[in-house]
Amino acid sequence: MPVDGFQLPADHKQRFDVMEMRIGTDPSYALKTHKGTGYYKVPSLKGVWYRGPFEHNGRIATLEDWFDPVRLRDDYVPTGFKGSDSKARSVTGHPFALNLAPEEKKALIVFLRTL
Ligand code: HEM
Repeated sequence: MPVDGFQLPADHKQRFDVMEMRIGTDPSYALKTHKGTGYYKVPSLKGVWYRGPFEHNGRIATLEDWFDPVRLRDDYVPTGFKGSDSKARSVTGHPFALNLAPEEKKALIVFLRTL
């Protein structure tokens, strides 16, 4: 899955199994580091119950926090890894399921913990 700002080389669609959706994941490591490829591998949700802290930086402590839209705000203090400066910052990443009704969100998280 390409990150925002990455221009797909013409031959990649034939050579790789590329999902052409862009979902707002943090592009910095994928574009600015020597190991960056321009892509994210979509993480499996199998075993997600024991895999926290979540997202690539470990900034999110729990699944409840991952599905809480307040993480997108600039004044959000990450509940997981806070970085060396402990500053408030937005934790971007996909918006799926952020706006579910409370009981639906609870049911989703209970389901995810069974995987
Ligand atoms: C309702 C549907 C979805 C749910 C419930 C869901 C759930 C999750 C969860 C729980 C995580 C954190 C996992 C972890 O850190 O190990 C995650 C991360 C991620 N998901 Fe999804 N996901 C959904 C749809 C999608 C779709 C459609 C895509 C790709 C097109 C996708 C791509 C990713 C990526 C790339 C990450 C890593 C983000 C990062 O590390 O910053 N997800 N998702």
